[in-house]
Amino acid sequence: MNEPLLKAENIVKEYKAETHTVYALKGVSLSIMEGEMVALMGPSGSGKSTLLHILGGIDIPTSGKVFIQGKDIFSMDDKTLARFRNKNIGFVFQFHYLLPEFTAVENVMIPLQIYSNREPRKEAEEILTKLGLKDRLDHKPSQLSGGEQQRVAIARAIIGKPKLLLADEPTGNLDGENTKRVMEILKQLNKENKMGMVIATHDREVAEYCDRIIFLKDGIIQG
Ligand SMILES: Nc1ncnc2c1ncn2[C@@H]1O[C@H](COP(=O)(O)OP(=O)(O)OP(=O)(O)O)[C@@H](O)[C@H]1O
Ligand SMILES: [Mg+2]
Repeated sequence: MNEPLLKAENIVKEYKAETHTVYALKGVSLSIMEGEMVALMGPSGSGKSTLLHILGGIDIPTSGKVFIQGKDIFSMDDKTLARFRNKNIGFVFQFHYLLPEFTAVENVMIPLQIYSNREPRKEAEEILTKLGLKDRLDHKPSQLSGGEQQRVAIARAIIGKPKLLLADEPTGNLDGENTKRVMEILKQLNKENKMGMVIATHDREVAEYCDRIIFLKDGIIQG
């Protein structure tokens, strides 16, 4: 049996407030194989964003381990982890975090600056065009609608062709047509590049594109 692309072992996340503790994740274990496309579903507050952040090494668990391609990501120092993340993981945040001073195409080019053998602007323009943003390439985030910003954030996350894509409600602000557009592109990347994906979503239609669904409730995987 192949080694999983991503393996999480007994992830616990507690947020300590002054008077009480929030148990956001209560022991989550999962494996994602290379080329697997998985939907992460569950009610608001069930821990989806928290889990994705931890799987991507953006947040640290209270206890538990995450292995990506067999590497224990929380045993790395900050610099090594940042480099590992840039190379292997694409992240779409629930609130997209585009750089306000840069245009759409520039935001998308950023992850490619580390590859000397690629053509960042051309590739960024191509991917934004596929996402229906051909006429918005030179707009800054403040000049884009919420759904347009979301698609720019998706383009930025996938342009480096990461092995693993972690997407937090990537279609949350999109209409049916653009949801379809985004999901078709993700499915294509999943198939052609064997990109492994975990996609948090409230949308059944998005989950339909995935190979399986992980349900989270109150910080625990169901079933
Ligand atoms: N920084 C924080 N401090 C304290 N509690 C937090 C913090 N971040 C998240 N939580 C709590 O952890 C729980 C899980 O939150 P999380 O954002 O992971 O949920 P979610 O499943 O992504 O919800 P949604 O579908 O609304 O995006 C919630 O109860 C939330 O209030
Ligand atoms: Mg969330």
